[in-house]
Amino acid sequence: MNSIIGWVGGKRLLRKVIVPLIPKHNTYCEPFGGAAWILFGKSSDHKDWQISKKHKYREVLNDINGELINFWRHVKYHPDAFKTEVEKFMASRELFTEFLNMKPRTDFERAMVFYYKLACSFGSLSKTFAVRGHRSMLPIRNGDKLQQAAERLKDVVIEKLSFDAVINKYDNCRSFFYIDPPYYEHEDLYERDLADCFDQHEELNQLLKSIKGKWLLSYNDHQYIRELYKGFKIENVETLYSLSGASKPKTEIIIRNY
Ligand SMILES: C[S@@+](CC[C@H](N)C(=O)[O-])C[C@H]1O[C@@H](n2cnc3c(N)ncnc32)[C@H](O)[C@@H]1O
Repeated sequence: MNSIIGWVGGKRLLRKVIVPLIPKHNTYCEPFGGAAWILFGKSSDHKDWQISKKHKYREVLNDINGELINFWRHVKYHPDAFKTEVEKFMASRELFTEFLNMKPRTDFERAMVFYYKLACSFGSLSKTFAVRGHRSMLPIRNGDKLQQAAERLKDVVIEKLSFDAVINKYDNCRSFFYIDPPYYEHEDLYERDLADCFDQHEELNQLLKSIKGKWLLSYNDHQYIRELYKGFKIENVETLYSLSGASKPKTEIIIRNY
């Protein structure tokens, strides 16, 4: 299934390449979860993945961005109330500006305002008002999808930790991590709300060299990254980059330790 939000760096287009490369595992973890296109793109049936029935199967969605994680928790635990609340609001520039300047009083309001700003902004950047065509007058275009996302997240553990803490917490020889960090020299795109600007490419590299689990990492194609991961399997993948509305072809890289 699809994710229900747009997110800068979201892997909507690359999931067809990445999902078939996921090896069998008992723990699936996305430390840099974002919109979780790969988690939503992979089958939720444990039997498709499980190495051993002796060990519990689990999936983990993590991100450092507290607004995003608060939103995913509301989708998981309160989909009906969340849908009802968001449906009260039409997409409007005036409301968007009001929400931009508003300080939500509860976590529920935070989740609603976060979603509204994402759904009604240019490039899902939550900065400038933009909606696509008349279909978009409602921020939630299809309430059933929200229910389906809640169902998909039913057994998914949602964490708000830094990547190193979540990797250390869930690492074992039956773990698989899909690692999708902010791209090298494009880190500032994620510096929203309480999320720090990411500058830990080397720390991530050191950690990945030391863990027991399998991992697959996606990055922009940069010589610095190729040098850091020299010795691992590095493959080029073609994708489209579409932040400005127009799509441009782009090469990215996939690196893995298996
Ligand atoms: C490229 S996006 C992930 C996109 C995701 N794979 C998808 O399909 O939507 C990178 C994510 O890393 C998160 N992030 C940045 N620094 C982090 C950190 N230190 N620990 C965990 N997550 C972090 C950002 O908030 C952002 O959501």
